[in-house]
Amino acid sequence: MANATDHLWMHFTRMASYSAGEVPTIVRGEGAYVWDAQGRRYLDGLAGLFVVNAGHGRTELAEAAAKQAGELAYFPLWSYAHPKAVELAEKIASLTPGDLNRVFFTTGGSEAVEAAWKLARAYFKRTGQPNKYKVVSRYIAYHGTSMGALSITGLPGIKSDFEPLVPGGIKVPNTNFYRAPEHGDDAEAFGRWAADEIGRAIEREGPDTVAAVFLEPVQNSGGCFPPPPGYFERVREICDAYDVLLVSDEVICSWGRLGEYFGAVRYGYQPDIITTAKGITSGYAPLGAMIASDRLMEPFLTETGMFAHGVTFGGHPVSCAVALANLEVFAREDLVGHVRANEDAFRATLEKLHDLPIVGDVRGDGYFYGIELVKDKTTRETFDEAESERLLRGFLSTALFQAGLYCRADDRGDPVIQLAPPLIAEQQHFDEIEQILRTVLTEAWARL
Ligand SMILES: Cc1ncc(COP(=O)(O)O)c(C=O)c1O
Repeated sequence: MANATDHLWMHFTRMASYSAGEVPTIVRGEGAYVWDAQGRRYLDGLAGLFVVNAGHGRTELAEAAAKQAGELAYFPLWSYAHPKAVELAEKIASLTPGDLNRVFFTTGGSEAVEAAWKLARAYFKRTGQPNKYKVVSRYIAYHGTSMGALSITGLPGIKSDFEPLVPGGIKVPNTNFYRAPEHGDDAEAFGRWAADEIGRAIEREGPDTVAAVFLEPVQNSGGCFPPPPGYFERVREICDAYDVLLVSDEVICSWGRLGEYFGAVRYGYQPDIITTAKGITSGYAPLGAMIASDRLMEPFLTETGMFAHGVTFGGHPVSCAVALANLEVFAREDLVGHVRANEDAFRATLEKLHDLPIVGDVRGDGYFYGIELVKDKTTRETFDEAESERLLRGFLSTALFQAGLYCRADDRGDPVIQLAPPLIAEQQHFDEIEQILRTVLTEAWARL
């Protein structure tokens, strides 16, 4: 739309880049596709922003929202409840692993991460370890943008403008096996090393100062780093040994993205807290949650005790109604099972791209993949900053979109293309993704 930049301040957007051109404006969605204001169709290769898990155009989710707004548009969860929040919390607790039974609603992911860090601090304050306040997370990981969540985030480029941040954010290596600094030929040994780096960081900082470790099941930022075998098992041992909480940040990795309701279930580990958002409503209304174990709530169950935290719209009735309707769709259509049944086909289709000289690595699980682009396949040499700028921002993002694929070309780590289609996607969509990528990446290589 011509006037899109007059007043609208877009998120993480170089506004100046639109001074000469039009902002792509998406007006409609149906299934795995969206349409722009000119009527052009795009395959939604990113489910919006890892959000629209059930796919676009589900009128029953819109109707659930309208019904709830008509019945009770709003009431807070501050000393009062409303039926949909109660029902949804119960439903979530029935799906989480172990005793993650306490659901604290937020409006999105950053707030869930913020709440988790606050809970970890408050929990230790109330259980006689008041100095445990620091958090460990991984380089290049994205955990949100509010000041606490940004402090946990491991991307210097989006932090520096806002320093000083909340003190106590400690960074450890991520699980990028393709660029493993050690044990590059042995995934298990690499996983052990990466997990032990967490233990070493806790030792360095002093175990009596560290409250929590925040990890995504598959790290998104940097281009989908799945956990090496044994990684989470070892992390759990380390957290237990040092009395540090393990927070599984599943803002992306829950609600079927990895073929289970929760990523922790897929990789068989038991977190103390799960943070979630995005796909919980498939984006038909905003909602997030921090899901804590029974143990973590105990210190707040005294007569005068409370977790002194909240947000006005956390657990909004409309969002909770939509989430419940969304989970009904999940159950009825077995979307989680659909991902499990089709993930090998998705991987196999993307792996065909390995024959292109620019494709260095294809990695991920479920419906969640990163394709790393390289200058030299044999040496794994990556692009320098200027090349990356030219390649990703100057060419790929626009070219992929113009070719009919909405996805993300990202250079927050090494250059990657990120894919996370709606969970209804099947072979025809995988093929379309592969064909568009093949054409555009071939052209990108020719332009280098
Ligand atoms: C792992 C993770 N944590 C937290 C967030 C922040 O969520 P939100 O943008 O809803 O605040 C994101 C967003 O992409 C995320 O991927």
